[in-house]
Amino acid sequence: MCGIVGYTGNQQAAPILLDGLSKLEYRGYDSAGLAVRNGDSAPVVVKTAGKLVNLIQATDGGKKLLGTCGIGHTRWATHGDPTVTNAHPHVSDEVVGVHNGIIENYSELREKLKDNGYAFYSQTDTEVIVKLVDYYYRKYKIGPIDAINRTMVRARGSYALALIFSDYPGEIYAARKESPLIIGKTEDASFLASDVPAILKYTRSVYYIENLQAARITPSTVQFFNLNGDEVFLPVKEIEWDASAAEKDGYEHFMLKEIHEQPLAVKNTLKNTDFDNIDLTNVKALDIVACGSAWHTGVAAQYIIEKLAGIPVRVELASEFRYRSLPLSKGTLVVVISQSGETADSLAALRKAKEAHLPVLGIVNVIGSSIAREADYVIHTQAGPEISVATTKAYSAQLVALYMLALKISRVNEEPYMHQLDKLPALISKVLEDKKDLQYLASRISNSSDIFFIGRGLDYAVSLEGSLKMKEISYIRSEAYPAGELKHGTISLVEDGTVVIGVLTQDDVYEKTLSNMIECKSRGAYLIALTSGQRPGLEKVADFIIRVPETESMFMASLAVIPLQLLAYYTSVYRGLDVDKPRNLAKSVTVE
Ligand code: F6R
Repeated sequence: MCGIVGYTGNQQAAPILLDGLSKLEYRGYDSAGLAVRNGDSAPVVVKTAGKLVNLIQATDGGKKLLGTCGIGHTRWATHGDPTVTNAHPHVSDEVVGVHNGIIENYSELREKLKDNGYAFYSQTDTEVIVKLVDYYYRKYKIGPIDAINRTMVRARGSYALALIFSDYPGEIYAARKESPLIIGKTEDASFLASDVPAILKYTRSVYYIENLQAARITPSTVQFFNLNGDEVFLPVKEIEWDASAAEKDGYEHFMLKEIHEQPLAVKNTLKNTDFDNIDLTNVKALDIVACGSAWHTGVAAQYIIEKLAGIPVRVELASEFRYRSLPLSKGTLVVVISQSGETADSLAALRKAKEAHLPVLGIVNVIGSSIAREADYVIHTQAGPEISVATTKAYSAQLVALYMLALKISRVNEEPYMHQLDKLPALISKVLEDKKDLQYLASRISNSSDIFFIGRGLDYAVSLEGSLKMKEISYIRSEAYPAGELKHGTISLVEDGTVVIGVLTQDDVYEKTLSNMIECKSRGAYLIALTSGQRPGLEKVADFIIRVPETESMFMASLAVIPLQLLAYYTSVYRGLDVDKPRNLAKSVTVE
């Protein structure tokens, strides 16, 4: 979703802002803009549609915009097309601003402002919020913080705002409700960003501004205020992530780099996950809630927890969970899984669970994120910053955190399982060693129009993830099906040459899935089998076999998913696509 950066200090702001925006590109965007002011002169605004490179060219790498204070933005269109006019910053008489999120009552506010003489040039809710701040500021002759607070009381929805007031040179004002925003500090400069990678190069000391708080930022100070306008004091937190985490380190894409970081992500998550402060004693059932790939890890966990612990597990998509009249029973632990910790639907699901007085465990990658802060208990996956839109290492880290939860909740003797889990990083490295076959396979399937992924049980959970990876970055239509469901309708789509990938790592359902694959082959399918161990006769059935090493069958998803990530990656590369920033997608989905 939209990315915000801000800088005030003694360096030229524009190059720093452009650099910060480039680190937020992964969030997804379709236009970009900067506002930079030189001393007390009016801020100069430059906006461009399309990729950030257009803004870099328009400003000559920032050199055309002089000044040491400024704000920048990458916009992911919600209200209005991705045009230059709709791009941020938006300007009013006294205020220039950028925004992330959605102002739900913007039409009503726009009418009110029109009645008060304001004209509107864009279709955005952002122009409305910037002009509303301007309206209160001028009408009541109050300071920026009071004007922002009045605006926060009137505006409904979610937002992070960064504003420059013409009467306050060298200062940036910020506010947030739901949407992420952090403030970074060095001795002589202050930074503002939607996410850590944007400022990691300059500082690791950050403040997490709370919901419905406003901030005043100068080169030497950062102050926070509550909705009453009283100053509040927030602790400064040190980010442990390495600055190189936001660089490609010689890899062609972040996705490939992050795929290779999975052994470490898994190792660190295994090492740093403990349940000492989490009360699991009276847990009688689990509701696992998440979106996208995080939901797929929940699907895998469902099979494992039900098998090991024998307690009921529901896995719900957060966007459905939040609006369903679901009976939420006492004794249920709600587990919310999220890489970003900011996904709007997952956050809403968490709040619904808390309103029902159910304990919530967050499994979250981003420290200080909203889900991490609002959950009763948190397990931080140790994947480090994930930049590529398509998740890989965070998915793998979530899986192992869930394995450990399964062991804890079932109170089995953990030792033999932990022994297997400790071997996972080395086994993942082994899968990563040989990619030639997958490169060939990617070239073979890269012109396909449809791909089916099928499997049963845990193999179905892996199929879901393999299929999502494939479609989101290669744009090839792909579907994941429980293998036994195919013949209830979908098999009518299988024709000569249709690619069917069967995931076959679970012994107890191997024969069944294989039969379903043979049914597809009889209808002309090109069969790819992803398997482990000895599978006599498989060569005769499958056109192509991908083999991964063996481990405890409950943990096989961690190995089986790796070739599917690589297959999607190479297919996207063959098709010449933007692997790290697939069209229409955003890394962190902070709107519904
Ligand atoms: C797919 C992908 C998404 C996310 C989903 C949830 O590759 O990354 O499906 O898994 O948007 O995001 P988080 O985990 O940040 O809540």
